[in-house]
Amino acid sequence: MPLPGPSAPSPAVPAPPDHADGLSVWPASARLASHGDVEVGGVSLVEAASRFGTPVYLLDEAEVRERCRTYLRAFPDAEVVYAAKAFLCRALLHWVREEGLGLDVCSAGELELAVTTGFPPERMVLHGNAKSPQDLSAALRLGVGRIVIDSAWEIARLSALVPDGARQKVLVRVVPGVSAGSHAAIRTGTDDQKFGLSLTDGSARHAIARILDQPRLELVGLHCHIGSQITTVKPYLTALRRMVGLLAQIHHQYGIVLPELDLGGGHAVAYRPGETALDIPSLGARIRGELATSCAAAGIPVPRLAVEPGRALVGPAGVALYRVLAVKQTGDRVFVAVDGGMSDNPRPALYGVRYAPRLVGRRSTAGPRTATVVGRHCEAGDVLATDAQMPGDIRPGDLVAIPVAGAYHLSMASSYNAVGRPPVVAVHDGGARLLIRRESLADIKGRDIGL
Ligand code: LLP
Repeated sequence: MPLPGPSAPSPAVPAPPDHADGLSVWPASARLASHGDVEVGGVSLVEAASRFGTPVYLLDEAEVRERCRTYLRAFPDAEVVYAAKAFLCRALLHWVREEGLGLDVCSAGELELAVTTGFPPERMVLHGNAKSPQDLSAALRLGVGRIVIDSAWEIARLSALVPDGARQKVLVRVVPGVSAGSHAAIRTGTDDQKFGLSLTDGSARHAIARILDQPRLELVGLHCHIGSQITTVKPYLTALRRMVGLLAQIHHQYGIVLPELDLGGGHAVAYRPGETALDIPSLGARIRGELATSCAAAGIPVPRLAVEPGRALVGPAGVALYRVLAVKQTGDRVFVAVDGGMSDNPRPALYGVRYAPRLVGRRSTAGPRTATVVGRHCEAGDVLATDAQMPGDIRPGDLVAIPVAGAYHLSMASSYNAVGRPPVVAVHDGGARLLIRRESLADIKGRDIGL
C-alpha cells in the first residue's frame, strides 16, 4: 500500500462521538455496571474506593500495554521510548520494558529508579536543559545509552566526566523552529524557550562541530521535541524535513552519516468526548513516508527513527477517583468540592485544561447541571474541572471519577496543605493491586527533621 504523501489530510481524528455510556475517553476496558458503578480492568470503582480510600488513582495495565503495542506496530523498526516524566513507578517500568520500549529519563532520580528496577540502561535516553553533575555522573556510572546535549556548556562538562578510554554516545537537541502544542508552557519547537540548540541562529551546527572535536563523545544523531498535546501531524513533518536538512549538511561538511533521528513525543490524547487525539498508526505511516522521501532527496541514508511518547501511552489508562465533600451554590454557580485537587492534578491550574468528570456508584434521575469541580486546597485556583455536566442532585458522599488521569497528574503532584499524595492501584483482569501507597502524615513528618 503506498504511504500517504505530505498532502494527505491530517490524521488528527476526532474522538468517536460519545456512546450512550459516556465512556469514549475512558480505558477500553471500562464498562457500566449496576447502580451507576463503572468497572475498569474488571474492577468496580465503588469497591476500589472502599478498599483503597479516596482519592485514588487507577491504572489499567492492559490499556498501557495495548498502547505500547499500537506504537510498535505504527513504528516498526523504530525505537519507541517511553517518556517517564508522564508517570513513573516500578510496575510501569516492568510493563514498558516487557513490551520492548526504551525509556526517556531526565534526572538521576528517574534514572536510578529505572536501573534499580532492572530497566536496561543502554535502552535509556537522558534529557534535560540543565543536567546537574549528579545527573551526568549517574548516567555515566550506570551506562545510559544516549545523553542528549542541550547546551554548549554541557559538551566540555560531560566530556570531562567520561572515564579514560571510554566514549559516550550523544544526540544533539535541535530546535527546528516549529510552533506546536496546546499551551505556551508546553511548546518547545521555537527559539523563544529554554530547550535545545537553535537551527536558525547556527548554535546547533556550532555544538555539532564542538562535539565532533571531543574524542570521548560519539555523536550518533539528532533529537527534537517540538511540544506536547499536538493534535496534527503537519508540525512533525515540517520538523522532520528540517532535521533531515541538518543531517544532510553534516554529511556534506564532515562526510559522516549520523545513524539516529529522535523526533520526541507530544502526541495528543482526547481528554473529553469529541476532542481530537493524534492517530498513531497514521502518524507512523506519514512520518516514515516523509523520512524516506526527504532522505532520498537529500542523498543520505535513512536514519533509525526514535519517538518518545509519554502522555499517549499512559494518560488514557488512568482514572482518578474522588469523594465529594461539599456542594455549594454561589450566585448562579455550583461548586462540587472533592477530597483531592491541585495537589494531585495541577494541570487545570497550570494549563487551563478541561476534563469530563462523572458521577459513579449511584444512578441519578436528576437532570444535568453545569458545575465547577474544585479541590480541597486553600486557593481559588484549585479547580479540577470547569463547566462539568454533573447530575443536579450531586451531594456529599458521592464518588466522582475523572478519566484520562494517567499522565502528568501524579508525576507533578505535591504535598500542598500536607494533604498527602494519593495511592496508585493497578487494575487488570478483575484484580486490583496497590502500586504506590498513600502518602501519610508520617511520610511528611519524616522529612521534617529540624527544630
Ligand atoms: N520527549 C521530551 C524530550 C519531552 O520533554 C517530553 C515531554 C516528551 C518526550 C513526552 O511528551 P508527551 O508525549 O508526554 O507529550 N506537564 C505537561 C506536559 C509536559 C511535557 C514535558 N515534556 C502537561 O501536563 O501537559
